[in-house]
Amino acid sequence: MCGIVGYIGDRKTEEILLEGLRRLEYRGYDSCGLAVSNLKNKLQLKRAKGRVEALADIVAAENFKGTVSGIAHTRWATHGVPSEDNAHPHTDCQGEIVVVHNGIIENYLELKDELLKKGHLFKSDTDTEVIAHLVEEKLKTLNKGANSIRAEMPEPVFFEAFRRAVSVLKGSFAVSVLWAKTPGIILSARMYSPLVIGAGEKENFLASDVSAFLKFTKKVFFMKDGEIAVLRKSGVDFFDFGGKKIQKENSTVNWDLSMAEKGGYKHFMLKEIHEQPQSVENTLRGRVLPVSGELLEKELGMTAAEIKKTGGIQVIACGTAFHAGFAGKYIFEKFGLRTEADLASEFDERSRLLEKNTLVLAISQSGETADTLYAVKLAKKNGNKVLAITNTLGSSITREADYTLYTHCGPEIGVASTKAFLGQLTAMYILAVNFAFVKGNISEEKARLCVEELLKIPRWVEETLGLERDVEKLTLSFSGKEHYLFIARGINYPIALEGALKIKEISYVHAEGYAAGEMKHGPIAIIENGMPVLAVAVSGPNLDLIRGNIEEARARGAEIIAIVDRESGKKVKAAHYLEIPATDELFSPLLTVLPLQLFAYYIALNRNCDIDKPRNLAKSVTVR
Ligand code: AGP
Repeated sequence: MCGIVGYIGDRKTEEILLEGLRRLEYRGYDSCGLAVSNLKNKLQLKRAKGRVEALADIVAAENFKGTVSGIAHTRWATHGVPSEDNAHPHTDCQGEIVVVHNGIIENYLELKDELLKKGHLFKSDTDTEVIAHLVEEKLKTLNKGANSIRAEMPEPVFFEAFRRAVSVLKGSFAVSVLWAKTPGIILSARMYSPLVIGAGEKENFLASDVSAFLKFTKKVFFMKDGEIAVLRKSGVDFFDFGGKKIQKENSTVNWDLSMAEKGGYKHFMLKEIHEQPQSVENTLRGRVLPVSGELLEKELGMTAAEIKKTGGIQVIACGTAFHAGFAGKYIFEKFGLRTEADLASEFDERSRLLEKNTLVLAISQSGETADTLYAVKLAKKNGNKVLAITNTLGSSITREADYTLYTHCGPEIGVASTKAFLGQLTAMYILAVNFAFVKGNISEEKARLCVEELLKIPRWVEETLGLERDVEKLTLSFSGKEHYLFIARGINYPIALEGALKIKEISYVHAEGYAAGEMKHGPIAIIENGMPVLAVAVSGPNLDLIRGNIEEARARGAEIIAIVDRESGKKVKAAHYLEIPATDELFSPLLTVLPLQLFAYYIALNRNCDIDKPRNLAKSVTVR
């Protein structure tokens, strides 16, 4: 997830762009840049690795005169490590077209190959740079093959070149381009990534979200997929990708700036909970079809032969990431792949006992967790191959590991991990299906059926988040409680652990996650009258057993909150029910965790806790 900003008007363009980037830094902050056009038909381009203030220092030293328009970008790297060369804006061969982009261009390699064959010279490892050269190539074609772009070309030809370019892009994009020869217009297009236009008085704005320009105007046009905006100082026109002009209604935003940065949500954590349909979709995108091990070869550099040679799998991670990996153990084992899962901080002894052909899965949202990095070093020392699963391109873990699979969740600002957890869980399914297929543990038909189910998950996540109001109301009667128990069996046992961690870390209450079958071996002694016990009880082979465990807790006075599907809800006795869409138990963790995230959030809200920055915690624990 990155942030893009554009401005056309009479103010000092570079200042407006920097102000907008500061407001969007939560969307990405590993590098940034801006390009400003002026009346001499020249572009001034400045970029920096690191945060916006690093760019602001560079801009302050530059003399921007006669500015007309500009575009800017703050990056959360997905392709190409964080560096000045990979920072946006990117340019065409002549340096006369600049582009900023938020999203993932899935077919950029094919497009890049075609452009390289036509003599285009690339300067970065990003997918985005392809767009600048594509527009340049379309301009050349429209200019009847002349090898330079004539200055007298009118704006409509630039529009047509841009329209043709975005029409061949596959994947997700909110993209904006400037051409030095037409400083009076900025072009922008949307497909799956957010893009909003701010309409001012003799000035106009574009951005990934309204917080970038809310200070200057509250009159906005929310772009839809397949739409192009043409911004001039005098106004904005809208077209579809076919070039047909369209009329759009404007809206008036009534958020204050602080709410705007959180997309209208009260906290980043709640915003990120609601980003989960998109983060699951982005993590799945291009990685589950066709199931032929292609993903592993193309993206990880793991050949089918290497996969066939791997013996067991060993997960190492911390905290929420460990819960994703622990659920991964159940998932991999469902596909016949022997798997162990250890806390990275407890991996010392076991690291020396690993079979050499055991593949180590190191999971870390930040890629900087000291315990996990240390455990990776131990595994490498023992001669094992390491596959890192991380949300942060270019993080330390990617340099230590042999292979890396990225979860494309965008920056996670809330200290309590939610969308990154679901992204890690999604990555477990992607790897399990691909590994099992390549190793011959499942047929192509079975793999296809699993993929079909996975592709439904984003919609089911969206549907499950519809429980929010029910959960909010339910928590009102629990906010005074100081002790909680979370129980589940089988593949949902790690979800019980995750639910307990979520409520602990943001509400500061005591909570335990337990394997429900273990209750009778001691923990049931702690149950008192009215104690809240959250139980995951979805349809599947564990339902009858968990139903018995719930009865044991109920008989001792527990107040049961059951996470059920329609069928299992009829068979379980509870004081409260939170119903999720029915899916095969194998995939249920992707949904059962959601009501627990919301439950923790609203308990913490009722207890007036600092939800995005809980006491004693850090987003990345870089000490052992
Ligand atoms: C998650 O809610 C916690 N804040 C914490 O447990 C976190 O998952 C853990 O520190 C691991 O972080 P990582 O994924 O960046 O390695």
